[in-house]
Amino acid sequence: MATRKIIVLGTGGTIAGRAGDAADNVGYRAGEVQVADLLSGIAGMAQRLDGAVMSSEQIAQVDSKDMDWAVWRALAQACVRYLQDEAVAGVVITHGTDTVEETAYFLELALGSAVAQKPVVLTCAMRPASAATPDGPQNVLDAVSVALHPQAQGVMVVCAGAIHDARHVQKAHTYRVDAFESGDAGPRGWVEEGTVRWNFRPLQSAAAPSYSLAQWLDRSPPRVDIVLNYAGAGAHVVNAVLDASGPEHERLAGLVVAGTGNGTVNSQLQEALERAAAAGVHVALASRCAKGGVVRSEEPATGFRVYPGLSAVKARVRLMCELMA
Ligand code: SIN
Repeated sequence: MATRKIIVLGTGGTIAGRAGDAADNVGYRAGEVQVADLLSGIAGMAQRLDGAVMSSEQIAQVDSKDMDWAVWRALAQACVRYLQDEAVAGVVITHGTDTVEETAYFLELALGSAVAQKPVVLTCAMRPASAATPDGPQNVLDAVSVALHPQAQGVMVVCAGAIHDARHVQKAHTYRVDAFESGDAGPRGWVEEGTVRWNFRPLQSAAAPSYSLAQWLDRSPPRVDIVLNYAGAGAHVVNAVLDASGPEHERLAGLVVAGTGNGTVNSQLQEALERAAAAGVHVALASRCAKGGVVRSEEPATGFRVYPGLSAVKARVRLMCELMA
C-alpha cells in the first residue's frame, strides 16, 4: 500500500502568532510563524502520523479578520489539487479563530464531491505560538488524527479536543481556549489522546448544497453585506449600505439581515429591505441569536430568502455562493 500523506495548508492566525513575551497571550501579531516552522516544533507528531508523511504549503499569512475571497479561492484550489492525489488521506488547514467558521462553510460549499470520501480539517488556536503554554500544537495533533481517520469526510473544525461540522461551528468565546460550539447539533465528535470518538456522522439529507468550483475561477464574488436589527434600528442603515460603493465599486448584490429572535426586523428596516429587494438586491433573513435558526412555516410574502439553521455570517457565504453559481 502506498504511504499515506497529510497536507497542511497555512493561512496565518493566532496559531501562527508571535508576542514579545511568552507570558503574553493577547498582545501578539497573528500570522507571523511559517506553517513549516509550526509543524517542525510539535512533539508527538510522528506517533500521530503513524507512518503517514506530512508536507505543508503556505497559502496565506493573515490575521483572519482580513480573510477574503482571494484566499478562499486559493485554499479551495489547493484542496482540490491535493485531494485528487490518491495517496493524500486528508488536508489540514491552520487558520485564525475569528473567521474559521466562514472559511470552513465556504469550503464545504465549494468542494462538494471532493470531500465526499476525504476530509478537510481546519484548526486554530487561541494562544499564540510564542505562548508559554500554546494550544496550537495540541490542536494540530488532533486535526491530524481526524484527517487520518478512515471514516472522516467533509469539512470540519477541530479545536480544544472537539470536532465541529463546518455548517454548525461558531466561535462562542472571545478568550477561552475552548472557544467553539456547534449549537443544538453539538460536536461531531472528540479527539482523546489521538483516538477519534464520533458523536454522529452527518446525515446525507442534511448535506449542504455544493456549487461547482470551476465556475468561480477568475471571477470576482458578488458584494453581499450584513445589517443588524436592534432596538431603534432604522432605514438609514440599509440606505447607507445600498448607496455605498463596495471595495471594487461594486453594486450591492445581496443583503443578509441578522434579525432579532426568529429573524424579525423592525418596520422601518422592513420597508427599507423591501425597497432594496425591489431594486434587485437579494435579501436573506437570519437571526442575531447565538443558537437556533430562523423557523418559518411559509415563505414570507416578501420573497426574502431563509437558510434554516445558518448564522448571519454563514447565510452571507451561502448567498454569495448561490449568486456566483
Ligand atoms: C485570527 O483570527 O487570525 C486572530 C485571532 C485568532 O486566531 O484567535
